[in-house]
Amino acid sequence: MSKRKFRIWRGNTEGGNFVEYTTDVEPGMVVLDVIHRIQARQATDLAVRWNCKAGKCGSCSMEINGRPRLSCMTRMNEFVPDMTITVQPLKTFPVIKDLVVDVAWNYEQNKRIPPFKPRAKDADGQYRMMQRDVERVQEFRKCIECYLCQDVCHVLRDQNRKDRFVGPRFMIRLASLEMHPLDTADRTTKIKEEFGSSLCNITRCCTEVCPEHIQITDNGIIPLKERVVDRYYDPILWLVRKIFRRASA
Ligand code: SF4
Ligand code: SF4
Ligand code: FES
Repeated sequence: MSKRKFRIWRGNTEGGNFVEYTTDVEPGMVVLDVIHRIQARQATDLAVRWNCKAGKCGSCSMEINGRPRLSCMTRMNEFVPDMTITVQPLKTFPVIKDLVVDVAWNYEQNKRIPPFKPRAKDADGQYRMMQRDVERVQEFRKCIECYLCQDVCHVLRDQNRKDRFVGPRFMIRLASLEMHPLDTADRTTKIKEEFGSSLCNITRCCTEVCPEHIQITDNGIIPLKERVVDRYYDPILWLVRKIFRRASA
């Protein structure tokens, strides 16, 4: 057992500041365990959101020493013994209380995305897909909606362009639909005009923080940008691909 120092942001919609806590830490603890211990022993009104404590619900997102992370998956032994650990809420979304932010904006973006629209079944009543096409979109379905990528994206975080860009989480949601082998909806115009694909300048910061290791930029955003370029700047290539896809469907 050792004593560790934490600086935790305490406040609400009106504002707040960091408060220091020193607490006992045992081997094997993660940051969320320590926050729960502080909550139990020193700050019973400390607000923190969590559910699974297994890296699967995406609820315990926060900024730990300046980096967006899941607190239930951040082990205490990653930090040198005398380091003070600073914990604060996600910066990109409005604070409700202490470490809890309001992520409702993200659900609003999800509702704007045209849903899955499957093609007609084959003559025998079955759907057929190539395994490689199934695997291509499977990666995107690992998303746990932790919104760490939304938090780190400078278009949302620093430029606050929530009016123009849906952010990396919803770019991969769009990619999962657009690349789905059965989907027939055409979202390319919306991706450019309404969802703001051109605002992403491929810095890959979103990919770096994703706890599911989804290749958000290379496998999701760049192919979507290529579709926009094909449509708007090379319409003949777009037409050829469209005809070819129909013929092979
Ligand atoms: S790659 Fe694009 S979406 Fe990802 S953080 Fe950078 S600007 Fe944002
Ligand atoms: S893409 Fe990754 S970082 Fe973004 S919300 Fe999903 S799991 Fe979290
Ligand atoms: S508590 Fe579910 S991901 Fe951390």
